[in-house]
Amino acid sequence: MADYHEQQPTVFVLDFGAQYAQLIARRVREAHVYSEIVPFDISAAEVTRRGPAALILSGGPASVYADGAPHMDPAILELGIPVLGFCYGIQEIALHLGGEIPKTDVGEYGFAELEVLDPDSALLHGVPARSQCWMSHRDSVGTAPNGFTVTARTATTAIAAMEDGARKLYATQFHPEVAHTEFGQRIIERFLHDIAGIPPLWTMVNIIDETVDLIRAQVGTDRVICGLSGGVDSSVVAAILHRAIGDQLTCVFVDHGMMRLNEGEQVVHAFRDHFHVNLIHVDAEERYLALLAGVTDPEVKRRLIGEEFWKLFFEEAVKLEGARWLAQGTLYPDVIESGSKTAAKIKSHHNLIPFPPGVHFDLIEPLKALFKDEVRAVGAELGLPEEIVHRQPFPGPGLAVRIIGEITREKLETLRRADAIVREEIGAWDTERAVWQYFAVLPDIRSVGVMGDERTYGRPIIIRAVSSADAMTADWARLPHELLARMSNRIINEVEGINRVAYDITSKPPGTIEWE
Ligand code: XMP
Repeated sequence: MADYHEQQPTVFVLDFGAQYAQLIARRVREAHVYSEIVPFDISAAEVTRRGPAALILSGGPASVYADGAPHMDPAILELGIPVLGFCYGIQEIALHLGGEIPKTDVGEYGFAELEVLDPDSALLHGVPARSQCWMSHRDSVGTAPNGFTVTARTATTAIAAMEDGARKLYATQFHPEVAHTEFGQRIIERFLHDIAGIPPLWTMVNIIDETVDLIRAQVGTDRVICGLSGGVDSSVVAAILHRAIGDQLTCVFVDHGMMRLNEGEQVVHAFRDHFHVNLIHVDAEERYLALLAGVTDPEVKRRLIGEEFWKLFFEEAVKLEGARWLAQGTLYPDVIESGSKTAAKIKSHHNLIPFPPGVHFDLIEPLKALFKDEVRAVGAELGLPEEIVHRQPFPGPGLAVRIIGEITREKLETLRRADAIVREEIGAWDTERAVWQYFAVLPDIRSVGVMGDERTYGRPIIIRAVSSADAMTADWARLPHELLARMSNRIINEVEGINRVAYDITSKPPGTIEWE
């Protein structure tokens, strides 16, 4: 990560527990300050070498006294760099500087009333005498280390916040980074801007300008190739590369024909007609239909689609003379998840590229310092259309994993039309984008129905709509009955061959979001 955005004043978030650290890093960015997550055991020498403008110690699931609990290098607290600790972080500070953390059986979980004790607190400046905070801890600091002032408490936690202005050390037992803490973001901003004196430079304009500079410095006059899928990440990669290097960029869009209604045209229109990007559009629908004829096993479908994609992509890539770089839409969470020491689940780098024998490109990953919401904002700023910037997750194999059984042109057409109705109706109702993902599925069964005086023997459509924060778990969306009724009527009336509509009311787990 050291190569991206090094010139920005940076806040290091020491990672004592992955999910907490990511949220803090995002909150810091929302305060327009660049942040990076670093391992909890980073040495004081390394911190000095890299020169962050401030440090935040994250919360974590362990007790500071537990065997194998993560501990920081205490010398970091003596570097004179402003430090802010949350939850586990306040206990780390207390532990290393001679405070006391008595073992108790009384934890505090959930909402608590925060009472500010010191009106002159630098950190809690502007926080009212009483406000709501969010707690999640068992142990807590009983005696603050010498030099610290206790600045806040709750009914159960005597030291809810403490600070030592002379040493620039600040800490809270509660979690300012969660939305439930009423003045949490204000506390974070107070620390960053007023206490640490970091200017709010991490703005959309700066992010784009700096990324453009970095791309130019990295590729020089070389040519770059970028695979477009229609998804947010690859689209933003292409748009920012185009801003940086113009015609040195060539995009390859392998259209497998499994896209949703008008989606392929949308990609071509946005990139070729609007941005005037060099675009190679590989219309591979026929090849894919032939390849998938008779295939019903979901794993085989996925494998064939994936292998064919790379084959077609590299057929085009190798034709491009002088191309040295291959662009990839890796985001910051991918980088953290594959490198973090405390991440409970280490994810392998999921975007490994299967280069054919004898073919090689260097990778350029212009978004690897950005969170997803930043990527969307960059896309919007660069002028990508709304449908792309706010596109829902869509599987690489496309509608192929939403057609159960064999894929045919007729089934694809049926599903596309039903899916368009589902997206149109739920989209019009869900103006706040509260529903994570919604789409139609075409199962491989038929059932009896009656339309007019005639008996029908048609296919059902299954509507799937889920709420989720990260797709790891999900719940079915509680859509209003009127909306479900409208979709059902429209699908049966407008899509030939469909005589029944069902709504999937399965959460994940035990179900998955997709059907295959
Ligand atoms: P599941 O079905 O496993 O899906 O609950 C979790 C999330 O991942 C998306 N998904 C995919 N995305 N390629 C992708 O890029 C795939 O093959 C794929 N399969 C599932 C799915 O839409 C959901 O958001």
